[in-house]
Amino acid sequence: MVNGNCHQTSKYQCWGFQMNEQMWWRGAVIYQIYPRSFYDTNQDGIGDLPGIISKLDYIASLGIDAIWISPFFKSPMKDFGYDISDYRDIDPIFGTLADFDELVLKAHALGIKIMIDQVLSHTSDQHQWFIDSREDKTNDKADWYVWSDAKEDGTAPNNWLSIFGGSGWTWDPRRQQYYLHNFLTSQPDLNFHNPEVRQAVLDNIEFWLKRGVDGFRLDAINFCYHDAQLRDNPAKPKELRTSIGFDEKNPYAYQYHYYNNTQDENLGFMEDIRSLLNQYPGSVALGEISSEDSLKTMAEYTQGNTRLHMGYSFDLLTDNFSASYIKQVVESLEARVSDGWPCWSISNHDVERVVSRWGGFNSKDFAKMLFAMISSLRGSVCSYQGEELGLTEADIAFEDIQDPYGITFWPQFKGRDGCRTPHPWQHDAINAGFSDGKPWLPVASEHFAQAVDIQDEATDSVLNSYRNFNHWRKEQPALRYGDIKFIDTPEPILAFVRQYQGEQLLVCFNFSEQSQTVALSSLLAENANLNVLSGHKLTSATIVDGALQLPPFGCFYCKLGQQAKSLS
Ligand code: BGC
Repeated sequence: MVNGNCHQTSKYQCWGFQMNEQMWWRGAVIYQIYPRSFYDTNQDGIGDLPGIISKLDYIASLGIDAIWISPFFKSPMKDFGYDISDYRDIDPIFGTLADFDELVLKAHALGIKIMIDQVLSHTSDQHQWFIDSREDKTNDKADWYVWSDAKEDGTAPNNWLSIFGGSGWTWDPRRQQYYLHNFLTSQPDLNFHNPEVRQAVLDNIEFWLKRGVDGFRLDAINFCYHDAQLRDNPAKPKELRTSIGFDEKNPYAYQYHYYNNTQDENLGFMEDIRSLLNQYPGSVALGEISSEDSLKTMAEYTQGNTRLHMGYSFDLLTDNFSASYIKQVVESLEARVSDGWPCWSISNHDVERVVSRWGGFNSKDFAKMLFAMISSLRGSVCSYQGEELGLTEADIAFEDIQDPYGITFWPQFKGRDGCRTPHPWQHDAINAGFSDGKPWLPVASEHFAQAVDIQDEATDSVLNSYRNFNHWRKEQPALRYGDIKFIDTPEPILAFVRQYQGEQLLVCFNFSEQSQTVALSSLLAENANLNVLSGHKLTSATIVDGALQLPPFGCFYCKLGQQAKSLS
């Protein structure tokens, strides 16, 4: 076996990779920080890098492996940092390059890896590349973006749409041409068919590798290339307009996005990124993927040791919450992923907070169980700030809405601000201790009671459960690295076995607010020996008369002396 080469040799055999330091990302918990809303040290109402530095002890206490910091680069902030005007500098609202270097140093000293966002598919319209490119058709950067003449009738070159509403094309009066933008009009798409663009983007990535980062979350990574022939996307039948992430409220759902993203050429670029990262051992790439079949794309993009290390999709960021749905998504990926590696996520800065999205159960155990569940699947995990507190979605009044996506689609869709409100640190402080200045988004009144200081003190808080679970999980190689096999169980039970180097762990969750009884015989082969594990300190099951009694949102972990039913 080649060191670091992961391959499955038989249906139930462990994944044959040997762990080493450089593979820290396998099974890692990556804590996502949305810096605007984490902690503000200069009282301008916007979180900053010194804020992250001052909270590093808190971050380390979570037992996570890495942090992914959403964009903090120079930006006009039309999409709150996902519109970058200088990839090699820090926006003054967030701090300085010296702050960043200090953050890397101090995080590393605490054993925390640093991953940063790279927005490659598009820049801000304020980026010098675009300012030059739009000047005329002959300048050095003329072909760096996706430009096209109007059709005979003056309309846009094709029917491609912007995710944030309207046509994907905007007319530029200087060039007398349209330019492409898959997102806001102020986020023009780079032309990856141009090798100079690819090299410039790789150089920007290397700038941060040299500064010591451990990895990248690659924004909208399947959007880099577009169809060079600019073919129209076909219409999608009405009954299918429910693709992940979009529904009928957004006409973006009316098309199959065969041509504006996920082009075959993108695979070659993934390989270029990997070759660069290989020169910086231990550095990783995690791609955000949203395509017509994201699980298939995830499998392709992470296959072998030549493309991205990990990918994540929006499949578990939808409203669907049931044991069968989770099983179907994970099994569907497993069937195609071969040696690729997923990173699961149930919450981030783009979707409604998970405890609200998945039923709004007013129970701490619900939040605890959700995190345990997502971090027990095969893969790594992205866990969004506030998930460790069990925060609910904030209701933002229209006057306070900042997200342009929400402003366009109001009132059917309120945008993404409800999951981006400031982190509550102190229950009795102004703005819950986030800032003394007026925060860029209001702190949700119900979040004060969930503040860090209160949860720190309560042994049964979501926060302490999150910490306990992460520390316990680190000692469970089957959970971090093992393969996964589901057991057929009826709703609301999700059960599976993780297996690594001969060790088997049976895992079972109750997805409901009612207690459930599950016969052990439906999970295990006869005479199986169980070693029930409780070190995770979650709401646990008990075994009574050959049956598991799972409390509401209860969890069950046990080591198996003999094979579970699925493996017999
Ligand atoms: C990011 C969004 C952003 C978009 C455009 C995404 O997928 O997560 O927050 O608006 O890319 O960059």
